[in-house]
Amino acid sequence: MRSHYCGQVTSHVLEQQVTICGWVHHRRDHGGVIFIDLRDREGWVQIVFNPENTENFKQANQVRNEYVLQVTGKVRRRPAGTENKVLLTGEVEVLAEKLIILNTSDPLPFSIDEYVTVSEEVRLKYRYLDLRRPEMQMRFQLRAKATNLIQNYFDEHGFLPIETPILTRATPEGARDYLVPSRTQPGHFFALPQSPQLFKQLLMVAGMERYYQIARCFRDEDLRADRQPEFTQLDLEATFIDEEFIYQLMEGLMCRLFKEILKIEIPSKFLRMTYQEAMHRFGSDKPDLRIPLELVDISECVKHVAFHVFAHPANDPESRVAALCIPGGGNLLSRKEIDDYTDFVKQFKAKGLAYIKVNDLGKGLEGLQSPILKFLTKEAVEAILKTTKAKTGDIIFFGADKTKIVNESLGALRLKIGHDLKLIQTGWRFLWIVDFPMFEYDENEKAWVPLNHPFTAPREEMLEELEKNPGACISRAYDLVLNGTELGGGSIRIHDQSLQEKIFNLLGMSKEQAYSKFGFLLDALRYGCPPMGGLAFGLDRLMMLLSGANSIREVIAFPKTQNASCLMTGAPSDVEEKQLKELNILIKNK
Ligand code: AMO
Ligand code: AMP
Repeated sequence: MRSHYCGQVTSHVLEQQVTICGWVHHRRDHGGVIFIDLRDREGWVQIVFNPENTENFKQANQVRNEYVLQVTGKVRRRPAGTENKVLLTGEVEVLAEKLIILNTSDPLPFSIDEYVTVSEEVRLKYRYLDLRRPEMQMRFQLRAKATNLIQNYFDEHGFLPIETPILTRATPEGARDYLVPSRTQPGHFFALPQSPQLFKQLLMVAGMERYYQIARCFRDEDLRADRQPEFTQLDLEATFIDEEFIYQLMEGLMCRLFKEILKIEIPSKFLRMTYQEAMHRFGSDKPDLRIPLELVDISECVKHVAFHVFAHPANDPESRVAALCIPGGGNLLSRKEIDDYTDFVKQFKAKGLAYIKVNDLGKGLEGLQSPILKFLTKEAVEAILKTTKAKTGDIIFFGADKTKIVNESLGALRLKIGHDLKLIQTGWRFLWIVDFPMFEYDENEKAWVPLNHPFTAPREEMLEELEKNPGACISRAYDLVLNGTELGGGSIRIHDQSLQEKIFNLLGMSKEQAYSKFGFLLDALRYGCPPMGGLAFGLDRLMMLLSGANSIREVIAFPKTQNASCLMTGAPSDVEEKQLKELNILIKNK
């Protein structure tokens, strides 16, 4: 039906006859001449209808926005002074010879180029219209290019693309499962995979050596801008490898993606930081290194002060007193803003937000302004100023509490102030976080829970610690962080059956429970399981960052809303009584 895409009608096809198809982006009536911008996936081009061609002109008069047209005509240069330099097709126009209206369109619920003022609800309800927008079309072309490049890259490196089941058993990745009732086995359920984790390990036991998959994963968890209930992972696993292999593989992939897609050269090796250091300096295991602010420990400075808010945590090994110095912040932040930040940190269970304003460093204590000065000794204040390297005009915020609370609250405050004061530097700051703890103690459950998943191997030298001091045990897990977003994570796995049993046991599972949930894995580990490791990264998150979008919903064709529903189809929905009966399901409270 077409000879060219609208976006391909440039000066290269000058004087040629073309047939183009697409949607009416704009129609303008210019005193006897009608101009139509016809749009398709590749762009748009201007078409001119002259009144001399009576039949055509009459039809063009009826055309409205988003009508679907087929137009044949001759490409000519636009008259001097009417070119559009921004548009690839801006030097030319098509003089229409024949117009066929392939379909009409009702007025749209929102105009394609005025979507900015439209709520996301409306955009999602009419997603097929929202996706017509050039910006959205670009994102999906970018995504296709990235996927293609990823497939080629893994093919070159000897990875086999293998599909794993969607109807399966629960794989623990820390979220709730989506369950699917079985009709053939009443009372039994499939779980949709939170990740292909166990299958990819079994593929390694099967001798597939290297596997990858662009895999759909399902997690019923609280949604945010970078989380969807179903999302896509680039998932991979390889045999007889160590951490270094994974780092180099992923660094190579990222370099290629950035070069081919954004035309940007990024460093071929990424910075590595231990979990411990990241928490200590940034209060986060996914620090945004574009923000030039750091937490500084001042426990040593305040161990002996009378101010128990500081002295108590300073002397408790499970607590810390940390400072966040904001250069120039003393002048930039009003009293109201400081109060707002105090409220902000309370979300993270912080009990307050002490601060010192450095009005004039040269004037000693006189030059400082703070509600806590009266509780501190001169020596302590001097030590704080020295440790934080504060200068005239700065403000220093303090967090004093259990380490977890201080890290979470000051870590979040660091991000917030970084954004508020526009301190974020440009660029792509990749970072490997390594040496994660194996376990975390869950105070509510009164049990150890894995920081990663329970198939992650402990570091060899930690085997002794495992039972004696699980909290001190370091794992062989790694995360890839980009500009404060956790892009991916993975680990070297446990390939020893007795060690896997021991880990399950440590996590509070009896042998029977472990076998009932993971018997197939424990069995497989007895039949010559090779050492292996792998990683998965969130393809949606990567595409969000690459395309400059602020939510993964912008790079997923049909995303779900905050409460995990689809506004377009109305899913999840009621089902027929008959279906429920077949599934042996009785709804108690509707
Ligand atoms: P993990 O749970 O860290 O690891 O997931 C890997 C990556 O998947 C992305 N991701 C998400 N993206 C969008 N919405 C979500 N709800 C969501 N949850 C996770 C993140 C994350 O870094 N099986 C292991 C990997 C392994 O050990 O090999 C796993 O799934 O970018
Ligand atoms: P208070 O003695 O509770 O009035 O606190 C004095 C100052 O210390 C106030 O500015 C509080 O916001 C701050 N503050 C109180 N508790 C903490 C804490 N745990 N960490 C940091 N600052 C705190």
